[in-house]
Amino acid sequence: MELLIGKTSCQFLMLVIWFWSFQHGVSQKTEFEPKPHVPGKFVLSDPPMGLFDPIEISPAVVPRNPYPVEPLSPMYPSFPSTYEPILSGKCPVNFSSLLDVVDRTASDCSAPLAALVGNVICCPQVNSLMHIFQGAYNSESNMLVFQKATANYCFADLISILASRGANSTIPALCSVKSANLTGGSCPVKDLATFEKVVNTSKLLDSCSAVDPLKECCRPICQPAIVEAAVQISLGGTSMLYNSRIPGTGSGTGINAVNDCKGVVYAWLSRKLSSEAANTAFRILSGCKVNKVCPLEFEEPSSIIKECRGSAPSSLSCCSSLNTYISSIQKQMLITNRQAINCATLFGSMLQKGGVMTNIYELCKVDLKDFSLQSYGQQGCLLRSLPADIVFDNVTGFSFTCDLSDNIAAPWPSSSSLSSLSLCAPEMSLPALPVPQTSVSSGSRNIARIIASIVYIISSLLL
Ligand SMILES: *[C@@H]1O[C@H](CO)[C@@H](O)[C@H](O)[C@H]1NC(C)=O
Ligand SMILES: *[C@@H]1O[C@H](CO)[C@@H](O)[C@H](O)[C@H]1NC(C)=O
Ligand SMILES: *[C@@H]1O[C@H](CO)[C@@H](O)[C@H](O)[C@H]1NC(C)=O
Ligand SMILES: *[C@@H]1O[C@H](CO)[C@@H](O)[C@H](O)[C@H]1NC(C)=O
Ligand SMILES: *[C@@H]1O[C@H](CO)[C@@H](O)[C@H](O)[C@H]1NC(C)=O
Repeated sequence: MELLIGKTSCQFLMLVIWFWSFQHGVSQKTEFEPKPHVPGKFVLSDPPMGLFDPIEISPAVVPRNPYPVEPLSPMYPSFPSTYEPILSGKCPVNFSSLLDVVDRTASDCSAPLAALVGNVICCPQVNSLMHIFQGAYNSESNMLVFQKATANYCFADLISILASRGANSTIPALCSVKSANLTGGSCPVKDLATFEKVVNTSKLLDSCSAVDPLKECCRPICQPAIVEAAVQISLGGTSMLYNSRIPGTGSGTGINAVNDCKGVVYAWLSRKLSSEAANTAFRILSGCKVNKVCPLEFEEPSSIIKECRGSAPSSLSCCSSLNTYISSIQKQMLITNRQAINCATLFGSMLQKGGVMTNIYELCKVDLKDFSLQSYGQQGCLLRSLPADIVFDNVTGFSFTCDLSDNIAAPWPSSSSLSSLSLCAPEMSLPALPVPQTSVSSGSRNIARIIASIVYIISSLLL
């Protein structure tokens, strides 16, 4: 299942595009209003290192205030450099109708942060944008996909516009997207009329118009509806009774067609929903997928195995090798609290396979947070499991919200802990989530509010 998340809208500036006689050819003029509120002196294409020095945050303030009125400090004092994009003039899409989702994507994939948030923030949003963009193409027409040549121009234009608004231009490689994603690939149904004839559209729309972020990952409603529709159109409208043609029972082409058809289903949905509703739904679906796996790369932990194997390792040498190893992991990327559970479990089982019998997370006091990017003051920052965005503020720069309630011990894999790690346990809440004292007194606060927003500087990791 795929993609995407919510909507937030950081409108920065307006990109106004005029289509001068597209019919007559080339001349498409673009005007780009500069963001009036972005101070010129902060518009940097190549920011000096000094800008990324940590900003002092009093440790007494940072982790203990679960309900900050506002973010306490800038996270990443960087401002996007914006410019007027150079477009092909051959893409018949009205980009100005997509500005909100384009700006949100540019912010989520902001140049300096893109690689660090690619897995959890940037790429889910890019995928959502791709679906919405595909749906927006020729929205007056009958087609749900781009023609190949047009797809090339439009994809290039889209990436140019994103880059012109501060996004990292490596998005295609970072997120594995390309113009072919817009063409429907091998899906046999590419037009609206056939789609609506084959698919039970009211069921699809009912299932996906309001995706419940708390339930969809555990008791999915929209995801199976999308798959069902994709399977139906992958059969080209023929009856499901022809078992031999059901994808998966025969050649791999059936599976490819279903995957390609999923893109067509997404495009249809994004035509029927507002771009905001579509983006929210797609990001939630992405979140389900993203939270199932650990995106970190673990090298062979042979040094830890050597120091920690057996039933009574020396805590000094064992923990020192564990700390060394983990500090290299901490430079990789931002992850969610759920991904951290997966990572701790995965890594623990690698160690167990190597002969480490002791719970060395406990021995060495390894927290879930230790698996994420570390920020200023050695505070780990885990993102919430729900879809999140990078927030841009014209005063403080880019920031993101860390989950402060995740200060819990990393789970050492065992048969019992594995079974309790179900992502579906009490509705997306983490197992053993400690409740901060302060939350008791504020009864009216939603539990989600415990997850306070705090700003972390991640500069040191980027140098
Ligand atoms: C930041 O943006 C807001 C609204 O977008 C504007 O009112 C404010 O003046 C801006 N601040 C600066 C410092 O540019
Ligand atoms: C493009 O979309 C915007 C906003 O949706 C609309 O105001 C404008 O008329 C459209 N332009 C063209 C050429 O269709
Ligand atoms: C864009 O991201 C790449 C990694 O994907 C990074 O190496 C590069 O520095 C980023 N560009 C900018 C301008 O920060
Ligand atoms: C784009 O296509 C690639 C393979 O060609 C696929 O892995 C990826 O999921 C697709 N992305 C989207 C947003 O459809
Ligand atoms: C479409 O799905 C709805 C809800 O599942 C069902 O009630 C309805 O009969 C279906 N319509 C068709 C034409 O199959």
